[in-house]
Amino acid sequence: MDKEEFSMMKLVPDEEQRRVFAKVFDRQTILAVHALASKGYFKVLEFVVSTGKEGHVFRAMDAAGNFRAVKIYKIETTDFKHMSKYVDGDVRFQGIKNNRRDLVYAWTRKEFRNLNELNKAGVRVPLPIASKANVLVMEFIGEKGEASPPLKEKYAENAEKLHATLVDFMARMHFKARLVHADLSEYNILNKSEEIVVIDCGQAVPTTHPYAKSFFERDVRNLSNYLNKIGIKSTPESLTEEIRAKKGEFSK
Ligand SMILES: Nc1ncnc2c1ncn2[C@@H]1O[C@H](COP(=O)(O)OP(=O)(O)OP(=O)(O)O)[C@@H](O)[C@H]1O
Ligand SMILES: [Mg+2]
Repeated sequence: MDKEEFSMMKLVPDEEQRRVFAKVFDRQTILAVHALASKGYFKVLEFVVSTGKEGHVFRAMDAAGNFRAVKIYKIETTDFKHMSKYVDGDVRFQGIKNNRRDLVYAWTRKEFRNLNELNKAGVRVPLPIASKANVLVMEFIGEKGEASPPLKEKYAENAEKLHATLVDFMARMHFKARLVHADLSEYNILNKSEEIVVIDCGQAVPTTHPYAKSFFERDVRNLSNYLNKIGIKSTPESLTEEIRAKKGEFSK
């Protein structure tokens, strides 16, 4: 066994998971994962929590036994056109070169930064811990090591309270962080024992982005549809109005 194989065994102790890992990630990704591990952000990648089309989310553990979520974006299979739409026009990420790797790295930094800005604005999101290349380390949202389900699977017990929380989060996003999530729905909001946590923030763009308005309208439509499903009467117009009414509370 060479040195590299040996360190992979320590990093991903489970053989089956190691096979998954080796199949999907290239050498540079493995180096980035090692670099983050050597800084102590986590010690082992335990297993895959979710395999999306854009990347994998792992549950990891640090030396003290704390869980972490590690999201690793794939380089080769990303939808370049789709991603470009959310990076071009974001004033924070100008001059990104036109190749897949640079775009995915920018996307990863973007998710880190969005999580930071949303957290500062008081929107409950996983706390970002570190990022390097296409690897993002963040707070693990779950209990006793079990990842929390999305609202799609676990409806909130108190629909009125959820409604108020969603309006509050949308107003904070828009008027305080000045960001539009751009993929908001019951799939990207986790229900951690009735605490609502917004995830998947890589695509979020500043409100100055040329498509910000249509992304915002789509988010509002998704949430409004969901509210109707759980018994709250809502239209995209009424929900927009409720968010706007909070402008004074959050505008700088
Ligand atoms: N911080 C976290 N803590 C616990 N679980 C998480 C965390 N982040 C993501 N997950 C899990 O991983 C899944 C995918 O995460 P996310 O939505 O961020 O990635 P994605 O690449 O956009 O995937 P998808 O295409 O499925 O939306 C989530 O639905 C959730 O189950
Ligand atoms: Mg998602």
